[in-house]
This record gives sequence, structure tokens and C-alpha cells, in this order.
Amino acid sequence: SAGGDLAGKKVLITAGPTYEKIDPVRFVGNYSSGKMGFALAEECAARGAEVTLVTGPVQLQAVHSRIHRINVESAAEMAEQAEMNFKQADAAILCAAVADFTPETTADHKIKREKDDLVLKLKPTKDIAATLGRMKTSGQKLVGFALETDNEQENAQGKLERKNFDFIVLNSLNDSGAGFRCDTNKISIIDRQQRIDYPLKSKTEVAKDIIDRLAEEMK
Ligand code: C5P
Repeated sequence: SAGGDLAGKKVLITAGPTYEKIDPVRFVGNYSSGKMGFALAEECAARGAEVTLVTGPVQLQAVHSRIHRINVESAAEMAEQAEMNFKQADAAILCAAVADFTPETTADHKIKREKDDLVLKLKPTKDIAATLGRMKTSGQKLVGFALETDNEQENAQGKLERKNFDFIVLNSLNDSGAGFRCDTNKISIIDRQQRIDYPLKSKTEVAKDIIDRLAEEMK
């Protein structure tokens, strides 16, 4: 059995982008690499937790044997797996860059080139974070991420409340070396009392800071 300050704890982590199908060969996606989510999964597992890692399509391998990886593609599939696995979890960290919109219809056949414009109609996806926020019981912790391009503090605090997070990790696209595809990240942790700013670090080091804070909350 495992030692570490998260021994015996079950942690659910979402990671990576989602792909929303337009037709059999095309999708709407985003630039998320999944690196931050995978670093969090490794850190939790190394500290003794049983990790369920629900991940969108990424070019990464989970190393630790206590990481149970579930591959999904779309926001709907990620929502289904996240909801199912949250019930048994002591904490969830929602690191995935879930698509906010998905095509209203998916074509059965590859869409042909035409002279006219192609109009894609998108409908909103389910907000996984808000759903888990409503499901959350008193013993469970919920951690969210926010990537903001403007009004970062205000937007992050709004999300903290709306999605019922215990704390939210803010990463700003305005900082060079932070966010999508990078190996480094610069974060702030915001809760209902305070904001703590951290310096630019590797995603492995950032994961330690985030899990230190989560472990503190789970005591
Ligand atoms: O509102 P926004 O998408 O910026 O919120 C970001 C946070 O919400 C992240 O923790 C992200 O994983 C989560 N989220 C989610 N389901 C969505 C959209 C975002 O869980 N459909």
C-alpha cells in the first residue's frame, strides 16, 4: 500500500482538449496539450492517491501505476465519465480545456467542397465543472482552472462561485511561458479569502504547488 499525504484518497482529474466532430474527418478543437493535467495526475499518484485521469486526445503517456486513464474525445463523453467517476472521488481537479460549443449536427459523410460558404452552427456543451459543483457533497473538494485574456481576477472569482469550486487556478495567456503547449506555467490560486501569486515554474513544479494546497484542504 502507498505512503504519502494523499494515501487512500481518490482523485479525479480531467485533462487535455476535447474534439467536437463536424464530419467523419473534421472536428472543432483547441491547443491544449494535456501537460498540466498529466503533471497533476503524476503528482497525486506519487503522493499515494488513486487517480482517475479522464483525458481528451493528447500525445502523452501516464507513467504511475496508480493512474487509471480513461480516453475520451468529445465534451459529452468527458462529461459522462467525469460524472460517473466523481461519485467515488474525494476530490476532482478540472484541468481539461473542454469545448464550450459543439456542432449542432455531425455529418455522416465527409462534407464536400462547394462554392458557397459553409456555415457551422454550434450549440453549447454541458458545463462539467458546474455539474460536479452541484453534485459536490461536504466531504468532496473541487478545483477548477481559468485561462483568461482580460479581467482575469473578476472572471476567475465569478467561476469560483458559479461552479462551486473550493479554489481556482488562474493562468493568464498574457504571461509569456504560461499556458497552452508550454512546459512552464505561471499561476495564481484564488479562493474566497485570498489570492496567492506564484512565479513562473515548470508544470511539474506547478503541480506540486497545486497539490500541496489541495492536500492541505483535504486534511
Ligand atoms: O468557464 P470556463 O470554461 O473558462 O471555466 C474553466 C473551468 O471549467 C476549467 O476548470 C474547465 O475544466 C471547466 N469546464 C468544464 N466543462 C466545460 C467548460 C469548462 O468542466 N464545458
